[in-house]
Amino acid sequence: MEKTLFIIKPDALSKNFLGEILDEIQKKGFKIIAMKMVKLSKKKAQNFYMEHKEKPFYKPLVEFMSSNPCVVCVLERKNAVKFLRKITGATDPRNAKKGTLRKKYAQDGRHNAVHASDSLKSAKREINFFFKKSEIFLWKKKRYPTLLHRKLKISDG
Ligand code: CMP
Repeated sequence: MEKTLFIIKPDALSKNFLGEILDEIQKKGFKIIAMKMVKLSKKKAQNFYMEHKEKPFYKPLVEFMSSNPCVVCVLERKNAVKFLRKITGATDPRNAKKGTLRKKYAQDGRHNAVHASDSLKSAKREINFFFKKSEIFLWKKKRYPTLLHRKLKISDG
């Protein structure tokens, strides 16, 4: 199954959107197979966004991403990279489609709530950037006994 990297950025975390965003992700059929909260050092944020080094927004982006913790996840799903990008929406929420995560939770082009890998190649690099192999759990669904069991409504988008 395809894997991708997802980050809930410091702005979304500060606004208490973490739970809502993870709920949406799970309801869209993504399985969370790794997750942690990290406070990026400036160096780590610089390295993560190295491809944007020459862009005018690089320095403030690094400041923003290292200003408070983020939550980073590895998500698994069929067609995970493309589908996550689709539901994430355009970088700037003004250009994002209705119903996308950035339309709902982002403030502007920098403080844009979430990050999703843009290709399979980036997903591999970004997953390895944050996670050791031993921190990724290829867990399988099991039927545990419970009176409160609810079936998640999964949509294919
Ligand atoms: P992300 O998807 O994490 O990838 C690169 C990030 O750079 C992007 O989200 C934004 O947070 C930031 N970014 C991209 N373009 C701009 C821009 N024009 N102005 C400010 N920040 C930007």
